[in-house]
Amino acid sequence: MLSLRSAPSAVLSVAFPLLFLSGCNDSAAARSAEETYQQFCMSCHGENLRGGIAPTMLDDEWAHGGTDEAITQQIIAGNPTAGMPAFGETLSDAEVRSLVVYIREQRARHAAHPPPAPTAGDDQIVVTADHRFRVETVTDAVDQPWGINWLPDGTLLITEKTGGLRLWKDGILTDPIKGTPKVDALSQAGLFDAVAHPEHAKNGWIYLSFADLQTKLNGSRLSLTKIVRGRIADHTWTDEQTIYEGPIEHYRKAGGYHFGSRIVFDDAGYLFFSIGDRGAQQQAQDLTLPNGKVHRVFDDGRIPSDNPFVDQPGAVPSIWSYGHRNPQGLAFHPDDGALWAAEHGPRGGDELNVVYPSLNYGWPVITYGMNYNGTPITSETARDGMEQPILHWTPSIAVCGIDFYDADRFPAWKGNLLVTALAQRHLRRVVITDGVVTDQEIILQDAGRNRDVSTGPDGLIYLALNGPDKIVRLVPID
Ligand code: HEC
Repeated sequence: MLSLRSAPSAVLSVAFPLLFLSGCNDSAAARSAEETYQQFCMSCHGENLRGGIAPTMLDDEWAHGGTDEAITQQIIAGNPTAGMPAFGETLSDAEVRSLVVYIREQRARHAAHPPPAPTAGDDQIVVTADHRFRVETVTDAVDQPWGINWLPDGTLLITEKTGGLRLWKDGILTDPIKGTPKVDALSQAGLFDAVAHPEHAKNGWIYLSFADLQTKLNGSRLSLTKIVRGRIADHTWTDEQTIYEGPIEHYRKAGGYHFGSRIVFDDAGYLFFSIGDRGAQQQAQDLTLPNGKVHRVFDDGRIPSDNPFVDQPGAVPSIWSYGHRNPQGLAFHPDDGALWAAEHGPRGGDELNVVYPSLNYGWPVITYGMNYNGTPITSETARDGMEQPILHWTPSIAVCGIDFYDADRFPAWKGNLLVTALAQRHLRRVVITDGVVTDQEIILQDAGRNRDVSTGPDGLIYLALNGPDKIVRLVPID
């Protein structure tokens, strides 16, 4: 066969990539959603979906309903008699999904989202549907605050991504505690959460999660989320014990992405923590690896014998649930004790999940998002044996820390879930009725990248903001 060609090596080197491209329509080699739109849709639907010889997709006038399913169906099957061509032959299902995400993004950008709240000046009054409040600066002498949680005596624990652990009480902020673990602080890595033991008043334990930096494998810089506990004495971190540490084979290149790392205790005293996929998407499905998982251990790090995968050979025994991308928010529902997780998605597909043991939350096999560069991940948003999110935000808001509001200073918000957003720089409240999201409201816009939220013992809502870096609190005005 090769003898028919004069330059067989050139034939081979051309034939291979062609074969690869045509057989790979559903994944990485595909166009970005922007390019697909420009190439196939813009001539009729106009720049940025604003309309032309075909209708705009920016208003709420949908001929076919405007749900994800209806839009998908219109793109695939078209409506040829009305002038909408069918693209089912031209575009892969995954490309069609990425167009749906793109349409959602353009619509959100277009919707002049009226700032429900003015930006957060100290003397400005923010008006929301149920409450009016003032935003007070607690401190701005912090460097990229990441986690905020309370000690039983009313002291606020503040972690800084760069490695500092500080205490704040009655208006006084301490210097960083001496001797806390050295952290990998490159890219998304850093010191993450700091949480008191439920019986901290008796035992003094504080738990930290951080990107642990190791060089012991060939000298290359590797890191992975690690959990330790220790006590603070004389402003110094002491008595440190390791609660969770992966073997060095599970570490990945230092810096990089998706450390997860939120820590929460349930009422029975079990400790739950998250590890993001570390940028290795497929590993979220691999039970022999800790990344892309929510974990459960005893307060001293021992593995509960009823963890779902303890008897599965090779599985990491602390795993509680899997198929997670980057869960950076964890909180227990105050009424039924269910574990809620906010998961930072790709471009589109930020998720809110209720986490149950042994279940697979689907990443990256199913997702409502696409890659950051607009290329598709998959067309699949659901599959048997994989959990659906309670809610997904498409376009992404970049979810981070969450907290159920369970105090009395904002009575209309009792039981609501407070959700922070980084990219969209807001705090939103999510109303949940019988496990279903029934309403959402942005209650603070543009105060900064909202990194974490925590209700204080005073019933006020405390927020960790990045850019500007500060801790603020919402104070109701009656
Ligand atoms: C040749 C012109 C043309 C092109 C190219 C075109 N469309 Fe359309 N499209 C139309 C027309 C005309 C309609 C209105 C049809 C109708 O009323 O049902 C339409 C309707 C739609 C609808 C349904 C809107 C609704 O109100 O329910 C969607 C979604 C849509 N187009 C998406 C796309 C996407 C995505 C592309 C590119 C992949 C595309 N179209 C390319 C002409 C076009």
